[in-house]
Amino acid sequence: MRNSIRSKVDAFIVMDVMEAARRAEAGGRHIVHMEVGQPGTPAPRGARDALARAMEREAMGYTVALGLPELRARIARLYREWYGVDLNPDRVVITPGSSGAFILAFTALFDAGDRVGIGAPGYPSYRQILRALDLVPVDIETAAENRLQPVPGDLAGRDLRGLMVASPANPTGTMLGREALGALIGAAQAAGASFISDEIYHGIEYEAKAVSALEITDDCYVINSFSKYFSMTGWRVGWMVVPENHVRTVERLAQNLFICPPHASQVAALAAMECGVELEANMAVYRTNRALMLEGLPRAGFDRIAPPDGAFYVYADVSHLTDDSRAFAAEILERAGVAVTPGLDFDPARGAGTLRFSYARATADIEEGLARLERFMAAR
Ligand SMILES: Cc1ncc(COP(=O)(O)O)c(C=O)c1O
Repeated sequence: MRNSIRSKVDAFIVMDVMEAARRAEAGGRHIVHMEVGQPGTPAPRGARDALARAMEREAMGYTVALGLPELRARIARLYREWYGVDLNPDRVVITPGSSGAFILAFTALFDAGDRVGIGAPGYPSYRQILRALDLVPVDIETAAENRLQPVPGDLAGRDLRGLMVASPANPTGTMLGREALGALIGAAQAAGASFISDEIYHGIEYEAKAVSALEITDDCYVINSFSKYFSMTGWRVGWMVVPENHVRTVERLAQNLFICPPHASQVAALAAMECGVELEANMAVYRTNRALMLEGLPRAGFDRIAPPDGAFYVYADVSHLTDDSRAFAAEILERAGVAVTPGLDFDPARGAGTLRFSYARATADIEEGLARLERFMAAR
């Protein structure tokens, strides 16, 4: 049997790094994980308790395709609490993680062959999901002076049907302020490109509050998830906000593609939204870790970095240290016992000269990782 051409997507390199780290651990080594983009903390206590109670009470069968009405209503309320935006709960679609939302958004908005702009560096799966759906990812090489985010001028002459933006972004942690986001949305709309805003790192921000595209326009898709701020990666639950006149289209797709998001995860997610104290305690850890990284990485010799506005990553230019970030990451894993992600995952053109360091784990891990990196670089 042959495989389709569309299935020829690239591996997610960070997953390969995780596998190499796992092998090293199976061989008895202690590895500090600065590669993984997920919290080390479990789902909040209240979420786990709520699910345990619900499991005694309910059969946990399918829910309706758009998700539990209580959860959709609670998410709509979150937009009032976080952004002062009044949101009709009917526009909220619960999804199997933001990854499920990408599939729904791309299939609802685009036809085979349509061109969709994505920032480089950026989250690698955008490119691969687009390819797997026979869409054409168009890399927009972002500039350091724009804090590695796209700007309106980048859209000119590209014939885009869509533009996908993340703020805070992975791998850089940089955010688009209200003005920059508004200008990008305006440019996309003027060019006839649907605007998709990946807001998965909202809530994990350090200096200023992240701006939602919904504060600026209703004519966009906004994607978010319980994976990061709510510390529920493995539960596979996220959400998407779509314009009112798109809800039925997305519902038909969701019914057929997924039937529904995991019922148990929706129950836990609803309760997680009332666990602010625990979630803010996680944030205090990220804040401490970020400060340690901003001090420790330059001390180790990784001094070409920009302070991240949000998320839990530092993206470092290491082009003066290597022209092969994959080999460099392998060397760091082997000799320092620290797993980091090569930039090639995020930027096929320039990522051979960059690394991403994640500081999502416990502070003691970050301290140990930084000490190891410093020793490794001193001996190099
Ligand atoms: C920018 C960005 N979007 C989406 C995802 C996927 O997250 P989810 O667990 O919600 O599918 C990630 C995961 O790391 C991410 O970094």
